[in-house]
Amino acid sequence: MNKNHLKYLVCPKCHNKLIINQINELAEEITSGELQCSFCNSTYPIINSIPRFVPMSNYADSFGMQWNIHHSDQHDSHSKVNSSQERFENETKWEKNLKGEIIIEAGCGAGRFTQFATDTEAMVLSFDYSNAVEASYKHHKNKENLLIVQADIYNMPFKNDIADKIYCFGVLQHTPDSRESLKSLTKKLKSGGKIAADNYPFLSTTWFHTKYWVRPISKRVPHKLLYWWCKQHVKVMWPIFKMNRKIFSPKRANRINWRLLVPDYTSAGLSEERLKEWAVMDLFDMLSPAFDNPVRLSTFKKWFEELGYKEIDVHMGYNGCEGRGVKI
Ligand SMILES: C[S@@+](CC[C@H](N)C(=O)[O-])C[C@H]1O[C@@H](n2cnc3c(N)ncnc32)[C@H](O)[C@@H]1O
Repeated sequence: MNKNHLKYLVCPKCHNKLIINQINELAEEITSGELQCSFCNSTYPIINSIPRFVPMSNYADSFGMQWNIHHSDQHDSHSKVNSSQERFENETKWEKNLKGEIIIEAGCGAGRFTQFATDTEAMVLSFDYSNAVEASYKHHKNKENLLIVQADIYNMPFKNDIADKIYCFGVLQHTPDSRESLKSLTKKLKSGGKIAADNYPFLSTTWFHTKYWVRPISKRVPHKLLYWWCKQHVKVMWPIFKMNRKIFSPKRANRINWRLLVPDYTSAGLSEERLKEWAVMDLFDMLSPAFDNPVRLSTFKKWFEELGYKEIDVHMGYNGCEGRGVKI
């Protein structure tokens, strides 16, 4: 954590100022130490240069494991396709230069989108509930306009009305209550600020999605064992995956492969090696999370209306239900 970034943080419990208690530092960087609330005296450790506002281990542990193993897979520089950049630009539709603004990135994972937020020159406050923050930190540690913290979407260590922009991609469905998470983010947005968020869709076909039959068991399996099984499953099914791609139309092959629990990202233009990596990662991502709450598009739109947004644009997009709005 850069020392100069302390001004962006408050105590998540009482929203008062934090002070730095004990520190080990390297130039401007605090590598370890403790933040203390100047009002309620709560303390928060800084571990591996990252302030931790939640227990290191929590319901999102599977994501911590996933993103630390697959720390680079979905970064465009590694996958050699620009799918993360394209999604960031198309989902946010923000201007290219946001210097002087504050962006909150909710649920950063391994930080595949973080680069595009920092490229706008805005100050980016990025957080995740899991230890995935370490994977993101490894990629982005030298950026002066980025602060990464481990925090909970329901108790962020930021002042209310602080952000000009917020984005939250691939996260809401994995929290205990998507609407409450969106509500909590809304509190951090300034009036006139813009949000872009998404949530898995609830469709008439949702219950035919194989993952929802397997999840009641798989989410209870120890993560290491489940990850091992995902790898074996993809390995064994790979010849069938390839055969499907040969004999069926791209659309049908895609549907069959997903039903067989082999995530198929052929349309992204990945090499075979990368396709396999993504398949293992995404299979684990489907089967391990504690929460997976899809929502109807109409309900998602209603949330934006109820939470006080104007210029609402809710539609089907990259992750299912995709929404943008401006806080009234
Ligand atoms: C599917 S990943 C998406 C990560 C990243 N946005 C991406 O698209 O690559 C979902 C992320 O949401 C995070 N998450 C789940 N519950 C959260 C919470 N209560 N607060 C903050 N992050 C949370 C998980 O730890 C995980 O990294």
